[in-house]
Amino acid sequence: MKNAMNPHFKKHILCIGAGYVGGPTMAMIAHKCPDYRVTIVDINPERIAQWNSDRLPIYEPGLDEIVRSARGRNLLFSTDIEKGIQESEIIFVSVNTPTKTFGVGAGMAADLQYWEKTARQILKSATSDKIIVEKSTLPVRTARAMERILFSENNGVHFEVLSNPEFLAEGTAIRDLEAPDRVLIGSRQTEKGLEARQQLADIYANWVPQERILTTDIWSSELSKLVANAFLAQRISSINAIAALCEKTEADVSQVARAVGMDTRIGGRFLHASVGFGGSCFKKDILNLVYICRHYGLNEVANYWQGVIDINEYQQEHFVVTMLNAMFNTLAGKRICLFGFAFKADTGDTRESPAIYIARRLMEEHADLVITDPKALDNAKMDLKDSKGNVCFVDNPYEAASGCHAIAVMTEWRQFRELDYERIYRSMVKPAFIFDGRNIVDHQRLFETGFNVYPTGKPVLTHL
Ligand SMILES: NC(=O)c1ccc[n+]([C@@H]2O[C@H](COP(=O)([O-])OP(=O)(O)OC[C@H]3O[C@@H](n4cnc5c(N)ncnc54)[C@H](O)[C@@H]3O)[C@@H](O)[C@H]2O)c1
Repeated sequence: MKNAMNPHFKKHILCIGAGYVGGPTMAMIAHKCPDYRVTIVDINPERIAQWNSDRLPIYEPGLDEIVRSARGRNLLFSTDIEKGIQESEIIFVSVNTPTKTFGVGAGMAADLQYWEKTARQILKSATSDKIIVEKSTLPVRTARAMERILFSENNGVHFEVLSNPEFLAEGTAIRDLEAPDRVLIGSRQTEKGLEARQQLADIYANWVPQERILTTDIWSSELSKLVANAFLAQRISSINAIAALCEKTEADVSQVARAVGMDTRIGGRFLHASVGFGGSCFKKDILNLVYICRHYGLNEVANYWQGVIDINEYQQEHFVVTMLNAMFNTLAGKRICLFGFAFKADTGDTRESPAIYIARRLMEEHADLVITDPKALDNAKMDLKDSKGNVCFVDNPYEAASGCHAIAVMTEWRQFRELDYERIYRSMVKPAFIFDGRNIVDHQRLFETGFNVYPTGKPVLTHL
């Protein structure tokens, strides 16, 4: 059935928030559903201008192609939020929900101000019934607050709130959206709730197999997103805790991970020891989980999850201390090259990247930093703009490493595996060190080249 608002399209979808989630998820819907018109709005006009340009605001492999396939046809980017609300039947809310930095719950709870402003804006602008879809990650029971705001004026408009958390991972967002492990939709178990849930499921059914579209009650859906991130982060902290023990006992964390992960009850994925997890979600979502547990008086449960964050912070500090100890207990005036600044490969995103903490700590030790990254240098400059110390940003990794005393691998970019390390070694100050915070380079080969090699969770290989 075609739609009364614009007969060319079956339905009009709006997404509020054109960020790392809103942009790619909506581009995928538009790409897969040419019958639906998808509009993405944002309060940030610069961001919208970038989405409408040849240089998209975020880097994701495959994103350019998807956007190009649909933009101007059934995918629109706009700053006119009011019009977008009026013209749409289904509204995704994908605004940021960072950790609160002030007042009650500062440093723990989710800051819901952007989300609440959106709810109020929808209420103000809507003149017909809408399905509101929570795409942002939100504390469990937020849908109830959303409903309270939306129903605060008796204006005859019906709003049905659904929870549809996003599980994509940056760096593989397009692949994850194209073939998701599951799509989760939580709804009220009322007639209207189930009907709205079906409408949303029908969109995904255009490309996602039915058995992967999972429906639950609304609270379980909201909570599942926090729990999924907590479990993923927990695996990283678990293997990192074991990496520290491996370093003391000359065991090799990769071999331990392999042996443990071959147990099908455990599984081998996400057991890669590293300098720690980053990204905008893991830390904030666990802090939020901890906060919610404390709110309900579940202090032991809260402490358990807090431990995941504590180990992650320990791991970053441990990396700095390892560098300091290895380099004769002083880094002052030494030139250190950071290979990578993004929190993971294939993204330019640096939010909560371990590289930020490590760069700052190295500058506190009066090291001079050279930072190279294929996609994240603009963000790195912003992250370090207020830091005191010498830092420069260089595109070419060979130039970046030249004249340095040490390299610290911060991001697992494929490019860094494939460099000519003999050439790099020749250009560095001796003794030359490499600290591999991602275990991606060939440690034995680099050792034979002359480097003193400090992997994560494995025996060191040193000529000293
Ligand atoms: N980044 C990820 O990998 C990821 C994955 C899954 C879920 N999430 C969740 O998705 C949500 C969005 O994350 P993100 O990384 O896309 O954030 P982001 O900061 O990249 O994007 C959010 C956008 O919302 C816009 N915005 C804020 N308030 C607005 C308003 N009132 N009206 C219109 N636009 C507004 C901002 O200008 C910004 O462009 C968060 O809740 C996050 O936890 C993120």
